[in-house]
Amino acid sequence: MINVSHFSKSFGNKQVHKNINFHVKKGECLGLIGGSGTGKSVLLRSIIGLESPDSGTITVNDQNINALSEKELIQLRQNVSYVFQGGALFDSLNVFDNLAYALKEHTTLSAPEIEQKIHSTLKQFGLANSTELMPSQLSGGMQKRIGLARAMIMNPSILLYDEPTAGLDPFNTKKIKELILNLKQTGVTSILVTHDMPVALDVCDRLALLMQGEIVEEMSPQEFHQSPQALMHHFIHGETF
Ligand SMILES: Nc1ncnc2c1ncn2[C@@H]1O[C@H](COP(=O)(O)OP(=O)(O)OP(=O)(O)O)[C@@H](O)[C@H]1O
Ligand SMILES: [Mg+2]
Repeated sequence: MINVSHFSKSFGNKQVHKNINFHVKKGECLGLIGGSGTGKSVLLRSIIGLESPDSGTITVNDQNINALSEKELIQLRQNVSYVFQGGALFDSLNVFDNLAYALKEHTTLSAPEIEQKIHSTLKQFGLANSTELMPSQLSGGMQKRIGLARAMIMNPSILLYDEPTAGLDPFNTKKIKELILNLKQTGVTSILVTHDMPVALDVCDRLALLMQGEIVEEMSPQEFHQSPQALMHHFIHGETF
C-alpha cells in the first residue's frame, strides 16, 4: 500500500536520507524508529507529498506521489491522514471547528451530521466536553488526542502517526495506544514513528530502524525479543556504535 524505493533527500548540503527502502502492506502497522534528526518526520511528510524526494519514488495505493498534481494530492490526503508531531491544530479555531474543517471542506455531510460525528468522535477520545475550548486552553495530552481525532474523523485508510505518545503521561499513552490498536483492527494501514518502544512493540507488526540515512534493520516484535544483539536494542539503550 505504501512503497518507498531508493528515496534520498538533502537540505542544502546536509543529506538526511541516502537510500531508504521499505513497504507497508494493507492493514499493516510499520514502526519507524530512529534518533532525533534522522529524518522520520521528513519521511512521513514526503509520503503525503509535503516534501519531494531528490531521487527515488514513493507510491501510495500504486500512485506515484511525485507525479500527482496539487489537486490530486489534496484528494490523496483525504485518504491518508498525518497525525502531526505537535498536534498542529489551527490556533484560531476551537476544538469543534478544528474537527469540522475537513468535514466541511471535503465531504457532503450536513451540519447536523457533522455535529453528530464530532460529538461521537470526541466521546470516543474521552473529550466530550471540550468542543468550545481553544487549542491554547488544552493540555499537551489533549492537543495530541484532538490531533489524532482530527486525523481519524475522515475515516482514512492510511494513518501516519508522528510520535503520538511523546511527552504524554502513562494514562494518555495507554489511551492513544488503544485508539491506534482499535483503528488497526478496522483495517487501517499505518506507520508509527515513535521512541516509545513498549508502544511500538505492542502495536506494530514490523519495526524498522532508521540510521544515517538508511533503514539498517527491520524485524517483527517477536524477532526483536528473540534477538538481544539487534541494533534496535543498542539504540533503545542509548548506546553508540
Ligand atoms: N524544511 C527543512 N529545511 C531544512 N532542513 C530541514 C527541513 N526539514 C527538516 N530538516 C532537517 O532534516 C533533518 C531531519 O528532520 P526530521 O524533522 O525529519 O527529524 P526527526 O527524525 O523527525 O527528528 P525528531 O525525532 O526530533 O522529531 C533535521 O536535520 C532537520 O534539521
Ligand atoms: Mg520528527
